[in-house]
Amino acid sequence: MGLRIVMLGAPGAGKGTQAVRMAQEMAIPHISTGDIFRKNLREGTPLGKQVQGYLNSGGLVPDQLTCDIVADRLQQADCANGYILDGFPRSLPQAEMLTAFLAGRGEKIDVAVNIDVPDSEIVERLSARRSDPDTGAVYNLKFNPPPAEIADKLIQRDDDKPETVQARLQTYHETTEPIIAYYEKQGALVNVPGSNAGPDEIYKRILDVLPK
Ligand code: AP5
Repeated sequence: MGLRIVMLGAPGAGKGTQAVRMAQEMAIPHISTGDIFRKNLREGTPLGKQVQGYLNSGGLVPDQLTCDIVADRLQQADCANGYILDGFPRSLPQAEMLTAFLAGRGEKIDVAVNIDVPDSEIVERLSARRSDPDTGAVYNLKFNPPPAEIADKLIQRDDDKPETVQARLQTYHETTEPIIAYYEKQGALVNVPGSNAGPDEIYKRILDVLPK
């Protein structure tokens, strides 16, 4: 049985970067609520229209709507052997709903990986984040440069504008950060320093602290 993992950390802490690699190497799904919402936005679905305002302002999509989407996803067959939740839960009510949903199935989160990066570094990272619209691969003009041949097609996320990044950070500190203590109380928290080292080194730090 693989692990049921939650990734915690501020916007831009590197949750997605690490979760993609962990999911590949552990052969378990990577479930990012942000990716699900952005895909619906791009495709202009009813869900996309419903969440657009929240994403663009740096606020949170309502808890019940988000939890219903995740619960639906976790019941799919590929989640039977573990998964990595990235960007969820993001508020105490979401964390409590996840615990209750899993308890109803005789399951629990095995480990919550908190990647710790100071706000000053977050702003610098997010202004330089770019992604490949074809593959979804995420790069950083400063810290993780893309191959030169794809540089022209890379795009910037709408919510990586400086004013929206500030709003996302505020939402993080007010609403999401308390979840760290929630998972600590459950004995599931591991802390990983996420700055002053590239993605490879952070990945090693995560492997070192994951339950064996
Ligand atoms: P979401 O997509 O989850 O965004 P986020 O939490 O703000 O996280 P990011 O994707 O910005 O950052 P990340 O930590 O994954 O960093 P990354 O690896 O890309 O959510 C977006 C929005 O959707 C929310 O604002 C909200 O509106 C809504 N939403 C989503 N989930 C929700 C929920 N559960 N409830 C309600 N609403 C929800 O790395 C960042 C950059 O740094 C990249 O350029 C990367 O290349 C670079 N980098 C990575 N590692 C390093 C390193 N070690 N050193 C230097 N640079 C690095």
